[in-house]
Amino acid sequence: MLSSKHILLIIGGGIAAYKSLELIRRLRERGATVTPVLTRAGSEFVTPLSVSALAGVEVHSDLFDLTKEAEMGHIQLSRSADLLVVAPGTADLMAKMAQGRADDLASTLLLATDTPVLIAPSMNVRMWDHPATQRNVAALKGDGASFVGPNEGDMACGEYGPGRMAEPMEIVAAIDAALGNGPLKGKRILVTSGPTHEPIDPVRYIANRSSGAQGTAIGAALARLGAEVVFVTGPADVAPPEGVEVVKVQSAAQMLDAVTAALPVDAGVFAAAVADWRVASESNSKIKKKNGQLPVLEFAENPDILAQVSQMKEGRPGLVVGFAAETDDVIANATAKRARKGCDWIVANDVSPETGIMGGTENDVMLISQGGAEDWPRMSKAAVAERLAQKIADVLAG
Ligand code: CTP
Repeated sequence: MLSSKHILLIIGGGIAAYKSLELIRRLRERGATVTPVLTRAGSEFVTPLSVSALAGVEVHSDLFDLTKEAEMGHIQLSRSADLLVVAPGTADLMAKMAQGRADDLASTLLLATDTPVLIAPSMNVRMWDHPATQRNVAALKGDGASFVGPNEGDMACGEYGPGRMAEPMEIVAAIDAALGNGPLKGKRILVTSGPTHEPIDPVRYIANRSSGAQGTAIGAALARLGAEVVFVTGPADVAPPEGVEVVKVQSAAQMLDAVTAALPVDAGVFAAAVADWRVASESNSKIKKKNGQLPVLEFAENPDILAQVSQMKEGRPGLVVGFAAETDDVIANATAKRARKGCDWIVANDVSPETGIMGGTENDVMLISQGGAEDWPRMSKAAVAERLAQKIADVLAG
């Protein structure tokens, strides 16, 4: 199932490097081509000879001179790979990646490509738990890297806890998912994102503070799990995810049209901050200042896209997920909103200015479903997206 896929495997310096030898075998059994890169520290744990014998090609290591033409070609190779896999992903390698350093072959390859990256962390439990490592993990997730593991268990250093590298077959499954063979393969999912702009006249509009960050992260996470994503977005600050079908709109009315055109879908995630009202009659020409006279804007209610889709008699998506941006009584308001709109889940968050959530990189959400409210810890928007995408996959695949 990985035939014709090209994996660039970076083996860092950790005791789990021996598992990467097994990983190479499993990948090649499935038809993948593996180009191995061994860091200097990695070569303290496994020999270049065993790595190249298993991969069937020469191993590249830090000892090569990056100015050599052959190694410049190798950078090209990292760009042509379908996926970069870092296993073991040591604390040091991840710190370098998070900082964008390029002081050896492995880190240079990671910086010189926009190919997706999958990291299988492996380190002592205290190193994993250290705030510096957790900061780096959050930064790397924010940059779009995906992770597999670490697992919890007895460690080679004699301690117990999270830090063990994922097993080779778990890494193979994560590679499958990262390459779009994931649990959402064959599922079509609609995501709305960003604010809407409601025109007043040709130069003015009414907007809101949504950046589109959470919607983009959700679109990317769903695509990573293999879904075909239709991403309907208002004018957001954050760029839409890669590898999805993007439909750009301005107003709520245009968003409704785009959503209707995208149906049928297996699931819909309505993360857009749709304006509740529009100006009833948009002026075709710029409204001019008149001596002392203030313009009066009359409002009309916008269509509620989430409610319309949730209440469809025919062709309703199997799973409809709404968002609730609240500033007070989050659970009560979001629970009532779920019932009123008729969606299956509501991802509720507190957008009071002091939370820094609207426009920020983190989110603190509560997942409201028929079963009640599930409180998620505060985490990056990328991590919220990953968890939500995984939950959606569990429902659609189950
Ligand atoms: N939504 C929508 N169309 C609208 C308004 C909202 O699809 N016209 C969706 C949003 O994408 C979100 C959910 O409805 O998934 C809740 O949005 P929110 O603004 O929190 O709720 P409102 O319906 O606007 O209610 P209120 O302003 O009273 O909180």
